[in-house]
Amino acid sequence: MDAHVDFDPRADAYSRPLDTIDVSVPELYRDDVYQPYFERLRREDPVHYTADSHFGPYWSVTRYKDIMTVAVNHQVFSSHWELGGVRIEDQVKGFERPSFIQMDEPDHGERRKAVSPVVAPGNLARMEGMIRERTTRVLDELPRGETFDWVKHVSVELTSRMLATLFDWPLEDRQRLMFWSDVTVCHVDTPDAPVHSEAERYAELQKMATAMKALWDERAASNAQRFDLISMMAHADATRNMDFRELLANCSLLIVGGNDTTRNSMSGGVWGLSKFPDEYRKLRENPELVPSLVSEIIRWHTPVLHLRRTALADFELGGKTIRKGDKVAMWFVSGNRDEDAIKNPHDLIVDRPRAREHISFGFGVHRCVGNRLAELQLRILWEEILKRGIEIEVMDSPKYLRSNLIHGIRELPVQIH
Ligand code: HEM
Repeated sequence: MDAHVDFDPRADAYSRPLDTIDVSVPELYRDDVYQPYFERLRREDPVHYTADSHFGPYWSVTRYKDIMTVAVNHQVFSSHWELGGVRIEDQVKGFERPSFIQMDEPDHGERRKAVSPVVAPGNLARMEGMIRERTTRVLDELPRGETFDWVKHVSVELTSRMLATLFDWPLEDRQRLMFWSDVTVCHVDTPDAPVHSEAERYAELQKMATAMKALWDERAASNAQRFDLISMMAHADATRNMDFRELLANCSLLIVGGNDTTRNSMSGGVWGLSKFPDEYRKLRENPELVPSLVSEIIRWHTPVLHLRRTALADFELGGKTIRKGDKVAMWFVSGNRDEDAIKNPHDLIVDRPRAREHISFGFGVHRCVGNRLAELQLRILWEEILKRGIEIEVMDSPKYLRSNLIHGIRELPVQIH
């Protein structure tokens, strides 16, 4: 499948033979033309097999309920890196990253417990004042009456500072964390990707792990109570003896988790509200709707497009038999637009009832550990935007990342009034 700028995605999605639909093609997301393909799959073939793709054969699970079934059945659907990991694109032999998102029980749960306190309610309350202070500063410094890139000036600025805080990493050096995040998620065959081979990717991540290890050694030797991710891993039983490769893997997981997803929700929300001006008006008149808006943005944008599992046994789903060893993609981006689970799913509705019941954070034992932190950052951003009476006008459509994993917005020109 090939997505050209001047082609009609709906006509293509409905006219091509069903078995040629391959939603793993990264151009579909770069060109923002993926929705009709998922719409057809949800209606005609919700558990869909693609025999031939750039990433090998795989199943696509496209309906909300079926995605939940796969996500909660972790005994059958493995995340393990030795079986390929959590992306459609298999982990490349010799360069696997054994982070805890790519482990099964009990190893996964033990390690997850070590980092969870960083986002416990007490720690979030401690961070709130600092996040608000940074947010107000960034908003107050934005240019007025001229076009600027919301991604660069707001989304990247705020999430990179948050990331530095989570690792207690020098603030002035935060661009390096963003670079390693991009290195982790990119498809190496993207022309302007930061790295162009698995070996190059691994080499960059080794540099990151070496820098993290230096901080680790310092903090492991200290008994001072600290609340950053490195200190937590350095002192917890399940993680204090991690080898270099596991340290590398977990740091790159936490960098991506703490960065890309929230960054793109900050941009996706601005784009979404610009497409639904009546909702934006409703929000301005009812600022108490911000918590519901935040969940709705995270659903509507869906920052993580898919995650993958590998079947450990045969499993019946939607009338199909998934065989042991098969690769299964849960397309959150489709589940969140499932007409059978969500009313008017394509609309962004700021007072949507039960807005938190989206699928963007996954389900089951791997459900996003940072979801409350993401919501907190977005809540503060929108509270402060509304408090200042800032009106954001989007000047052009967003430029999207070429990725089948992260729903990334690279550029969003806006003016504020
Ligand atoms: C809107 C923002 C976010 C979205 C949409 C999101 C999405 C997700 C999803 C879908 C998963 C499930 C993984 C799976 O089932 O295999 C996940 C896991 C995870 N997320 Fe998030 N995330 C967000 C923010 C964050 C933040 C701020 C952090 C940082 C602290 C974070 C850290 C993680 C980690 C460490 C995992 C692995 C959990 C595990 O395997 O047990 N995420 N996230």
